[in-house]
Amino acid sequence: MDRNIYTVEDVLELLDGLFAPEADRWTSGAATWWDDFYTDRSKPVPFFAAKPDENLASYLDRELITPGRALDLGCGPGRNALHLASHGFQVDAVDLSPTAIAWAQERALQAGADIRFRCADAFSLTEAELNGPYDLIYDSGCFHHLPPHRRISYLDLLDRLLVPGGHFALTCFAPGESGASTLPDTAFYRDARLHGGLAYTSQDLRRIFSRVAEVEIRRMHDEPVESAHFGEAFLWTALFRRNAQE
Ligand SMILES: C[S@@+](CC[C@H](N)C(=O)[O-])C[C@H]1O[C@@H](n2cnc3c(N)ncnc32)[C@H](O)[C@@H]1O
Repeated sequence: MDRNIYTVEDVLELLDGLFAPEADRWTSGAATWWDDFYTDRSKPVPFFAAKPDENLASYLDRELITPGRALDLGCGPGRNALHLASHGFQVDAVDLSPTAIAWAQERALQAGADIRFRCADAFSLTEAELNGPYDLIYDSGCFHHLPPHRRISYLDLLDRLLVPGGHFALTCFAPGESGASTLPDTAFYRDARLHGGLAYTSQDLRRIFSRVAEVEIRRMHDEPVESAHFGEAFLWTALFRRNAQE
């Protein structure tokens, strides 16, 4: 007999388990997949270059965000965390992959940046294990690797860790050239895989993140290789602000 489901987290874990193990990119079990992905640093992966997202640079230039405490969610090799630290943010950066965290730590050491890295599943970290609440939660490319039911954990993280009046910024797959999946949510459970990541429309993002106010949603600008910034037009960039009165 197995009667072990009595919390929302139990249901979320049950749904995690409907996916083929090799399709997992979001639980602590996926760390080895990401480790393999990051092992060869010379691979031509655009976001391996140590440069920040163009939208993040633009938010800073326009003073839409100002220094405070920041969390880089799914930080990978740390390019955006480093940029935030260089602009005076006190940064925590979390990723599942020890290989990504080791690379990010090397970059931080070289840059003399004091960033607090955590190698963990961001959704299972407690407040005590982090340094929040945060004035900025930044996610470049993590959200679209989560299965539909984990949006619940994601929204819960924002509720717990974003200060009233704080900002949340996201880059994620748009439908089209990214090749990301436009299948309906239910199809991922039927197929037991996420088909490389989920595409979202701007309306989807507005609906999912309706608890925070939209500041700006636009496509990322395409940046040439020689640019100081990372930019791929198949991604959305979105900046939201939490109500200051909450
Ligand atoms: C497409 S990569 C983007 C990396 C980095 N943000 C960048 O843009 O350079 C997505 C990252 O999300 C991380 N990730 C996925 N699920 C996670 C989770 N539950 N907790 C922490 N990190 C996670 C992966 O390990 C991976 O490094």
